Amino acid sequence: MNADWQNKLYFGDNLDILREYVADESVDLIYLDPPFNSKATYNVLFEEKNGTDSPAQITAFEDFWRWDMAAARAFHQVVTEGPKDVADLLQALRGFLGQNDMMAYLTMMAIRLIELHRVLKPTGSVYLHCDPTASHYLKLVMDAVFGAEYFQREVIWRIGWVSGYKTQAKNWIRNHDTLLFYTKSHEFTFNKEYIPYPPGYTRRDGSKPTGKGIPIEDTWNCHPGDELNSIMIMSFSKEKLGYDTQKPEALLERIIKASSNEGDLVLDPFCGCGTTIAVAERLHRRWIGIDITHLAITLMKNRLRDTFGAELSPYEVIGEPQDLPSARALAQENRFQFEYWALGLVDARPAGDKKKGADKGIDGYIYFRDDDSGEYKSVIVQVKSGHVSVSHIRDLKGVLDREEAQIGAYITLEEPTRPMKEEAAAADFYDPPGLLPAVPRLQILTIEELLAGKKLEYPHIDDVTFKKAPRRNKEKPSSQQTTA
Ligand SMILES: C[S@@+](CC[C@H](N)C(=O)[O-])C[C@H]1O[C@@H](n2cnc3c(N)ncnc32)[C@H](O)[C@@H]1O
Repeated sequence: MNADWQNKLYFGDNLDILREYVADESVDLIYLDPPFNSKATYNVLFEEKNGTDSPAQITAFEDFWRWDMAAARAFHQVVTEGPKDVADLLQALRGFLGQNDMMAYLTMMAIRLIELHRVLKPTGSVYLHCDPTASHYLKLVMDAVFGAEYFQREVIWRIGWVSGYKTQAKNWIRNHDTLLFYTKSHEFTFNKEYIPYPPGYTRRDGSKPTGKGIPIEDTWNCHPGDELNSIMIMSFSKEKLGYDTQKPEALLERIIKASSNEGDLVLDPFCGCGTTIAVAERLHRRWIGIDITHLAITLMKNRLRDTFGAELSPYEVIGEPQDLPSARALAQENRFQFEYWALGLVDARPAGDKKKGADKGIDGYIYFRDDDSGEYKSVIVQVKSGHVSVSHIRDLKGVLDREEAQIGAYITLEEPTRPMKEEAAAADFYDPPGLLPAVPRLQILTIEELLAGKKLEYPHIDDVTFKKAPRRNKEKPSSQQTTA
């Protein structure tokens, strides 16, 4: 593996990140799972401490694309500066679709796919994960960007077992996504994969098979044999982190093993909770992940840490504020993203859907256990990006009492005033059971202090705030594997 390479996690719009940071012909494999224009709002569900899903869902991202100034600008850019085929196609599509949400989506995808084509190596591959809402239009866009002759396969992935209201549809039950597989040339990396022969399998002539197994076809999860390699996440699976659109690791494992080799660079520009990068890490690939929400970045950082522990290769996070001026800039640009980021600094989970209204004085929670009774205790976190006042500290004290929480944390971009500090000091200490030391019940932490490494103090014998990704060992590098 390249000695001076560090894997990278970028916060930001993938169009800007690709243009600014990713070099021409540097990537071996791209997997992208963009929002599908399904008009859904995808949520992150947090597990309540009693094991059920929390009603406090928070919006991870909205799957809405609108024909607005940004779409009109992207359209203009592709038509005036993009490759001719793509410009012609977009104009033809606009003639057919008009300026609607679908056209906005296809335009925003086209401008990003042009960048993805640029960064892909000549031997590289791209898998575009989509669903029937837009897959037929996206295939045209892919043909225009990558060239119809480099279309390789349309993979049908049967998503999993369907149950509940979905089976009530007066129709065939919907149960598949589509992966459009293109390459940049005819010379592409491909490691053919096989499903082991099921027990008792014989050839048509009755003889025993002698090959490596059944070569995998372009419909996945659809055959009896394929169940051996089942690529779905069951609702009870430990792998599930509560991110609505999370894809199974087995799906990414199949793609990454087939279309890249160890040491190759894998890119996911719509990274979500980080399935691609977690699998790339486990399989000794280099990786780049990009997402536009700080929530996703926090989830990915936790996932990588929990999955690989000390085995995790070093990686850089780019686009997160590193100092006070950049934290201020984020707060000015987007208050919600600032809040997600600030909560991530103390490993707190967001409290609810900000866009949907009242937050009852709570921006985030941290759960902890400080004895072996199994009882969960909590820190209530408030984040302030604007002006501060002693009344905030009094209010937070009131919220602690109302919620019967043990500790309150007030995170602020601005310096706290002296009366605020005095009010916090008057809140006394939380004294945990056993030998753990007492900690201030109300703590004020500035962003500057947190960036300098200061920690929120709370007693805990384990971390229970986020649903943890299960610990997994990395696969043995191929040089250390013995063939049977
Ligand atoms: C369908 S989800 C990806 C889920 C992912 N495959 C997984 O297994 O968790 C799409 C993700 O794209 C992100 N996203 C949407 N628009 C983006 C953009 N312009 N740049 C970067 N990320 C974006 C969303 O925040 C969301 O996390």
